Amino acid sequence: MTIEKLQNIIDISNSTVFFGGAGVSTESGLPDFRSPDGIYMSKQKYPPETMLSHTFFMEHTEEFWDFYRNMLYCPEAKPNAAHTKLAELEKAGKLTAVITQNIDGLHSAAGSKNVFELHGSALRNYCMKCGKFYSGDEVMAVKGIPKCTCDGTIKPDVVLYEESLDDETVSGAINAIASADTLIVAGTSLTVYPAAGFIRYFRGKNLILINRDKTAMDSAFSHIIHGKVGEIMNKIKV
Ligand code: APR
Repeated sequence: MTIEKLQNIIDISNSTVFFGGAGVSTESGLPDFRSPDGIYMSKQKYPPETMLSHTFFMEHTEEFWDFYRNMLYCPEAKPNAAHTKLAELEKAGKLTAVITQNIDGLHSAAGSKNVFELHGSALRNYCMKCGKFYSGDEVMAVKGIPKCTCDGTIKPDVVLYEESLDDETVSGAINAIASADTLIVAGTSLTVYPAAGFIRYFRGKNLILINRDKTAMDSAFSHIIHGKVGEIMNKIKV
């Protein structure tokens, strides 16, 4: 698929939805998970799916926080062209929703309003005892296990393995996909469920994939551009 074709589809669509993964943030300097330089490729004491699980958080809370602070929270990251262009398209009425698997908050930081964060956000943390909110910076500023003023343990508002996604976020995302006439999927290996399965709710005309590498679901897409989503979206005129 050419950039011109992508531009044309965006221009004539009435309801375009964007579904993204970690590959949308690599041009902001954040590693993804499964690429050769991804987070899951770095040598760790336990497999990443173990370290980022609910059980691990409950039983090895300090080790979880050490890994999470080092590998998953990057406050210095800034939105890249993909994030800013999507926010501009939403503002121009050409994009109805962004659905993201990322917890970095970069779509909202770029100005997108209708964002469904399927896996939560590293910018939000809550005390497990009293529910008090803590910002990302507050939990990053301390060493070891961040504790609430009530002495409860603070947990990031992210969906860990073994945990379920937020019902309201899921239904909002599925409704957006189901009523879209164009779905642009980008920067994701489409290997983690239930998120990857949401694509099947799409009933519209144009199912587009913008991804650097091949994915498990390439054959399901009517249009594919293999490349860097920030560079590609930067060429789109609003
Ligand atoms: N432009 C386009 N695609 C890119 C770019 C880029 N600049 N950089 C990386 N990619 C692609 C890679 O080729 C890869 O296919 O993005 C994909 C990233 O895949 P993963 O690392 O598996 O990330 P993601 O699909 O978001 O993972 C889903 O897994 O562990 C969980 O919760 C975690 O949300 C995450 C989920």
